[in-house]
Amino acid sequence: MNVTFTFGTVVSEIHIEESIHSIRSIIGSVSSCVLVCDENTTGIAASIAGKGQIQNSGDQNTLQVCGICVLPAGETAKNWAHVEKILKAAKDAGLGRDGVFIGVGGGVITDMTAFAASVYMRGAKLALVSTTLLGMVDAAAGGKTGFNLFNIKNFAGTFYPSPLIIMPLETLSTLPMREWKSGFAELIKTAILDSNDDFLDRIGGLKDAFVSPNFPTSVLRDIVLRSELLACIAKAVEIKGRIVEADPKETGTRRVLLNLGHTFGHALEVSVGLGSLTHGEAVAWGIARACDLGRSLGITEPERAEKIMRLLVSFGYETRAPHSCMEETGRFMAALFNDKKKKADKLTFIVPDRNSCIAIAIEKEEKMEIERIVRIIGGEVI
Ligand SMILES: NC(=O)c1ccc[n+]([C@@H]2O[C@H](COP(=O)([O-])OP(=O)(O)OC[C@H]3O[C@@H](n4cnc5c(N)ncnc54)[C@H](O)[C@@H]3O)[C@@H](O)[C@H]2O)c1
Repeated sequence: MNVTFTFGTVVSEIHIEESIHSIRSIIGSVSSCVLVCDENTTGIAASIAGKGQIQNSGDQNTLQVCGICVLPAGETAKNWAHVEKILKAAKDAGLGRDGVFIGVGGGVITDMTAFAASVYMRGAKLALVSTTLLGMVDAAAGGKTGFNLFNIKNFAGTFYPSPLIIMPLETLSTLPMREWKSGFAELIKTAILDSNDDFLDRIGGLKDAFVSPNFPTSVLRDIVLRSELLACIAKAVEIKGRIVEADPKETGTRRVLLNLGHTFGHALEVSVGLGSLTHGEAVAWGIARACDLGRSLGITEPERAEKIMRLLVSFGYETRAPHSCMEETGRFMAALFNDKKKKADKLTFIVPDRNSCIAIAIEKEEKMEIERIVRIIGGEVI
């Protein structure tokens, strides 16, 4: 299934595929490329390079791989040192500006590879192979690149949309349960942004399979459930694509809505230590707090907030405040006010409304509003 959307002048072609066999033919002939992966996606990268067990037979496409850069896995690896390692691998391999960076992995790898491609000799070619549910439904498409700096999530980054993004469902067969759960949080987030709750209800329909003991086999080997998962991924990509097309660089009022759950979630991730929680676990908790905030401001109707909370709980997310990883709320508040999206001492929160979500700005000095947030995260107002 293909989804296409434009980011400024760049057309992103997104291929949501069943198997990893089609990757080579979709990428086509490439005269020089560097593959970037992490220690959990080396097998997939090797098969793309033609050295793995899943090689295409009779493949007419020649992919000249001049370097493979393998990074450690996880959020703690999303830093400048590893971006530098990608750039050095490309330089050592003699990659020119016409060479292609191919990122193979979850959001950490695709964000860093895309960043490296965006600055390599002022911009090299890029293709991404997304191998986590979170990457497929959110991270890989939309043009945001980056890495963590100064203990702030994604502090450094660029906009550099990938013209080609491949999402092979088959790669998800090795994804750990915790990472599946992380991806469902971003799927739920995107569904909340849709103009009605049909998509949210559809995700609820996948929940029974998700909590069954033989997940993910139960979904990936069942023709109906697998095509439902594929359709949900495609729907999430389409929704994100529409938002990104309307407001590519988040200068307007649309793209900011994709940050639902992220202002609270990023602060939680940083305050408990990057890598302790998955991105999705933090976002799910952040969505719950956004519902609390929306309700306390009279913006989120109680029925919608309860519906969202029920869905989050049914997927097993920690939704109650304070989060069990939080030792004290002071560290959380410090991380919150360090948020890179803070504009002129205003913090932006996205809260669900009747049909979708809206953005609200809270002044750092607005004492009552800050007290409201402290209560919402389960802290004491001093
Ligand atoms: N650019 C964007 O618009 C955007 C949007 C949302 C999230 N993000 C970023 O994405 C990152 C989170 O992405 P993620 O959840 O994919 O994290 P991740 O890349 O760290 O992947 C999660 C874990 O799964 C492993 N893994 C990946 N593919 C696998 C596979 N097929 N089988 C087995 N293990 C596999 C990884 O090695 C890692 O240990 C965060 O850094 C977040 O900031 C970016």
